[in-house]
Amino acid sequence: MKTPYIRIKNLHQSFGDREVLRGIDLDIYRGETLVILGASGCGKSILAKHLPGLLRPLEGEIWVGDVDITKLREREMGPIRHQIGMMFQGGALFDSFTVFENVAFPLREESDCKEDEIHRRVSEALEIVKLGAHADQFPSDISGGMRKRVALARAVVDVPACIIYDEPHAGLDPMTADTIDRLIKTLQSDHGITNIVITHEIRSVFRIADRVVFMKLGKIYWVGSPMELQATKDPFLRDFIEGNAQED
Ligand SMILES: Nc1ncnc2c1ncn2[C@@H]1O[C@H](COP(=O)(O)OP(=O)(O)OP(=O)(O)O)[C@@H](O)[C@H]1O
Ligand SMILES: [Mg+2]
Repeated sequence: MKTPYIRIKNLHQSFGDREVLRGIDLDIYRGETLVILGASGCGKSILAKHLPGLLRPLEGEIWVGDVDITKLREREMGPIRHQIGMMFQGGALFDSFTVFENVAFPLREESDCKEDEIHRRVSEALEIVKLGAHADQFPSDISGGMRKRVALARAVVDVPACIIYDEPHAGLDPMTADTIDRLIKTLQSDHGITNIVITHEIRSVFRIADRVVFMKLGKIYWVGSPMELQATKDPFLRDFIEGNAQED
């Protein structure tokens, strides 16, 4: 029996009187690529932000290895955030930093990383996302798809044990989306990275997922393999796969 790397237990979150997460239970295994699907507004990004402790739940537990991170103080979160990297929906780049400095940011936060080491690792990360030639440009001077790739380079630069990608495919042309998928799988196969991918790109699910989680209205609605998803007769899932998804 595999032991989960991350265990989410009975997670609840609300904003005002709107319940956004309504009792999430989910195990994530080391080294898997887990894809999270669900209609816009169902709580995917909010769930993701709890894993590196960027949001605190109202109720519930999140175990990362043998630590319940909901019990940690803010100043104890550092090691968790090094373990769990996040590529934010929308990129969240620093506009006044060059591409290079954006990607270098997580490394500069580790005081023991030397300048030549930073240079080598940032250059490698930029090569992976094919942005080596754009290191000195600012986010405002590159395209939306390129900004996404910068955000991805920043998420992988310190090789965390787990990476959460929030909508890595949105707004990308199919070839760039393919490149991102290949990168996600390479990180899994070559570095043993656990991938959590939030996407609306159903083609990618069948390319990259080991397991699929389907969220609906702040709960886990369905968990299964891509093959099980393909074969499902559940009308709600079929609508989603076939592109008839409803907003909440
Ligand atoms: N800071 C906030 N304050 C109040 N409500 C919020 C806040 N952040 C998110 N919400 C609400 O929580 C719900 C879930 O948001 P979330 O961003 O997780 O959706 P999502 O599933 O990621 O959607 P999408 O696919 O569009 O990215 C939405 O109804 C949203 O309006
Ligand atoms: Mg979202």
